[in-house]
Amino acid sequence: MAAQGKLRLGVNIDHVATVRNARGGAYPDPLRAARAAQEAGADGITAHLREDRRHITDADIEGLQEVLNVPLNFEMAATKEMQTIALRHKPHAVCLVPEKREERTTEGGLEVAREENRLAHFIAPLREAGCRVSIFIAADLRQIEAANRIGAEVIELHTGAYCDAFAEGHWEEAQKELQKLEEMASYGHELGLEIHAGHGLTYDTVSPIAAFPQVQELNIGHFLIGEAIFLGLGPAIHEMRRLMDDARAD
Ligand code: PXP
Repeated sequence: MAAQGKLRLGVNIDHVATVRNARGGAYPDPLRAARAAQEAGADGITAHLREDRRHITDADIEGLQEVLNVPLNFEMAATKEMQTIALRHKPHAVCLVPEKREERTTEGGLEVAREENRLAHFIAPLREAGCRVSIFIAADLRQIEAANRIGAEVIELHTGAYCDAFAEGHWEEAQKELQKLEEMASYGHELGLEIHAGHGLTYDTVSPIAAFPQVQELNIGHFLIGEAIFLGLGPAIHEMRRLMDDARAD
């Protein structure tokens, strides 16, 4: 079954904050980036408030809630502290991600199957508060079924393994990862879940993922913020949008 509607692009602005925090001042301003992304056609803004506040800060989240006209996708770990913050702000969407202090970026998907009971209780008040709950998971049947059982409305499939294999020139492995992602996007969609995807996507890797009809949203950050150095944020987003639309049209 095909998914409906246009493929949405969520722009993750975490790494504007990374650059700002490198000097500890106010520039570049992630809120300005969010407004520019919005003007360039981003369908949503994604920001990850990490436990160690290495990029996005509590004040950024507050500011984003005030300035955005598009939905905020608030990424967070499944901790009591983050749940309290999410319940205070009630963002459009909450995306639960695994978090390890020592990692450079979100390395894998959330382990839902082993923590089903705790996560079911964890997301209940978020859903009651009106947040759309999304779970960032690997393309793994067990995890998708568990995410469905606990009442998540959305799963975001981790595209990192595919992008890494592609970047390292391991084409066969990249193809295998793509196939897994396609099968799991289809399976999740059949279960009634809304399917998102993201992590590590670039101009070179976005098209096959954008072409999966079940995928309704891509969340892309690091590459776009890097590309903005050379093109500007608006043109970088326009090019990503063009590639997504072309892939969808084919
Ligand atoms: N989706 C999720 C759930 C993420 O955690 C991240 C990275 O923070 C992204 C998408 C975006 O990944 P990237 O910055 O590599 O595009």
